[in-house]
Amino acid sequence: MPLPTAELETPIPIVDLDRLARNLDRAASYAASHHLSLRPHIKTHKSPRIAEEQLRRGAVGLTCATPFEAEVMSTVCDDILVAYPPVGQVRAHRLARLPERTALTVALDSLTAVDDLAAAARVADRPIHVYVELDLGMHRVGLPRVDDAIALARAVRDRPPLDFAGIAFYPGHVRDPVDQQSPKLEALAQALGHALDAFDRAGLRPRVVSGGSTPTLWQTHEIAGVTEFRPGTYVYNDRTTAAIGACGWDECALTVLATVVSTAVPGQAVIDAGTKALGREPMRGVDPGEGFGCLLDRPDVVVKSMSEEHGILDLSSTSWRPEVGERVRVIPNHVCIVVHLNDAIAGVRGDMVETSWPVAARGRGYRLET
Ligand SMILES: Cc1ncc(COP(=O)(O)O)c(C=O)c1O
Repeated sequence: MPLPTAELETPIPIVDLDRLARNLDRAASYAASHHLSLRPHIKTHKSPRIAEEQLRRGAVGLTCATPFEAEVMSTVCDDILVAYPPVGQVRAHRLARLPERTALTVALDSLTAVDDLAAAARVADRPIHVYVELDLGMHRVGLPRVDDAIALARAVRDRPPLDFAGIAFYPGHVRDPVDQQSPKLEALAQALGHALDAFDRAGLRPRVVSGGSTPTLWQTHEIAGVTEFRPGTYVYNDRTTAAIGACGWDECALTVLATVVSTAVPGQAVIDAGTKALGREPMRGVDPGEGFGCLLDRPDVVVKSMSEEHGILDLSSTSWRPEVGERVRVIPNHVCIVVHLNDAIAGVRGDMVETSWPVAARGRGYRLET
């Protein structure tokens, strides 16, 4: 039975189902038109329901960060990349225990990770495919030197049942407005080209070159050599993505529905969405990047500060004066964090809640015995 959104208790994340479908369609058709394999990162939605929608639209598989995400997604997908170093016996063995029908690929950048994963693969008696991770400018994980990456690929090749399948990188340093990304993307493409030439000369041509993000989503085809891309945020989008022009404001599918609980202090209004609903996420890549979210209908009104259960709307740049009890929809700065703070998401069309789905891969999925 559809429920009016007016009857929802706030704060609550709600997703505009039409916008979600358009976001999924647009990325799928971009991938198809550029002959790129789309392997979306599920860390944004953490929900098998959305993953199935991505696979139905042609995604070749899914990307996960944690063992629990991979376990949950293995219920709907038989081709999973864990784009996170599988360091430590516990993590490596947990990954190797994924269902046998799941083709498992893992991205890594150290011999320790190779050895942990090889040991787990042998115990589980299954092949595990490996992408060697390169640092192409983000300086987070990934080998900065191509020679080291080639040596690691050889180590993978020498440790069956591991299989050297390709190389991976994450362009997380490219968060500039879309029309200003060219210099960084050109440098990245050049570094990737050098790396691919060196791998070729070493007789280790990668079957897959996996990159991609939401800020660079629509430019992926300009990075020669990339065969697979892994955007995550694009399903819901957020204020950061819209502010840099990687999506339109009307493509922000997830908002936090909140209620104005106080207007007592002049020049501001207080809503019931604070850090426990929005996270304390800064804007990235835009200047000035003030506040922790903005209103869907009034992007100039931002959440200027927060306590755990209070968000303070700055009314200094607007003549709008909300009433206590009025409801607003907040576009969060970073949607992935908001999703992860919640057990379930409400799917809405207009003013009606049509459906809901659990954030099933939230948390770590283990229980400590006490
Ligand atoms: C390794 C990796 N790949 C892909 C993504 C998806 O990027 P985005 O959130 O920009 O869509 C992330 C995001 O953190 C990531 O860490």
